[in-house]
Amino acid sequence: MNIDWGNLPFGYMPTDHNVRCYNRNGEWGELEITSDEYISLHMAATCLHYGQESFEGMKAYMGKDGKIRIFRWQDNARRMQRSAEGIKLAVVPEKLFHDAIVKAVQLNKRFIPPHGTGASLYIRPLLIGSGPEVGVKPSGEYLFMVFVTPVGPYFKEGFRPMNMMVCRDFDRAAPLGTGHIKVGGNYAASLLSMEKGHEKGFASVIYLDAKEKKYIDECGPANFFGIRGNTYITPASPTILPSITNLSLQDLAKELGMEVEKRPVPLEEIAEFDEVGACGTAAVISPIKKIVDPDTGITYEYCKDGNPGPVSVKLYNKLVDIQYGDEPDPFGWIEIID
Ligand SMILES: Cc1ncc(COP(=O)(O)O)c(C=O)c1O
Repeated sequence: MNIDWGNLPFGYMPTDHNVRCYNRNGEWGELEITSDEYISLHMAATCLHYGQESFEGMKAYMGKDGKIRIFRWQDNARRMQRSAEGIKLAVVPEKLFHDAIVKAVQLNKRFIPPHGTGASLYIRPLLIGSGPEVGVKPSGEYLFMVFVTPVGPYFKEGFRPMNMMVCRDFDRAAPLGTGHIKVGGNYAASLLSMEKGHEKGFASVIYLDAKEKKYIDECGPANFFGIRGNTYITPASPTILPSITNLSLQDLAKELGMEVEKRPVPLEEIAEFDEVGACGTAAVISPIKKIVDPDTGITYEYCKDGNPGPVSVKLYNKLVDIQYGDEPDPFGWIEIID
């Protein structure tokens, strides 16, 4: 095996095994191990026609001590349960979720990037309606599976400030829709607007609330946060996916003696922020250098010296150090697995 750990993309690479479990007649079966990268799926499966699918994203990290760490898996398990309830999928019990991710990591140990490379093993739990239906109704069968793949940083710039564009002509989620859960349809709805942003040279787009187009919602597939003085500010909105990274950064900000505000954030307010960024599992923090609003012609600028702001750096380092086991974890976020 010849992997250039330091230059891994954030993409799919085959590994040795994945794990699967079917729910039939309302009962979860046994966890199965396979090396097949493909799923044999009925052509009328509800995931294909009616978007009955949910996924999660988390990571395993190799410590300096050679121990494998997984981060806040319970939060991912609960979020997947909320997603399942939201689109009528079978709910995956916490224990099954845990057994599946641990097994998938253990079976692919040789793909966990070594400590110090900045890379990690991405864990992708997936839950789909696999039973055939033609009418619009929930499936009678579900497949829960977990695969893993080694990944480098999400943005090729890494922890470097990037430019974003305000997006007013698309919404990723409706006010009473599914923005707060992690279901495939939200991502399909975001692809066109994100591609348009990329074509214009932006790393991602900032969505506003769908109702009033006044408040910041999300930054592509990541949460938004801002720093003003000693305060960490992040939008509250019913259409935002509750990011586990964001929750962790809020706890770390409090630990650093900062105030934390979670409330609607009007777009214009960001002119008063010292630092802004996007956060999520993939990149942890993506500092933002410039936010261009093509409709008003306003550009919000940060990181004038080209570097991430000091608070973002501090929060990033603290979180990453806990994830890789370089710092103790006073929050109980880490589970070490054999
Ligand atoms: C829409 C959206 N928002 C936010 C996040 C960040 O969430 P987390 O920090 O749990 O990865 C993600 C990624 O999962 C996402 O897809």
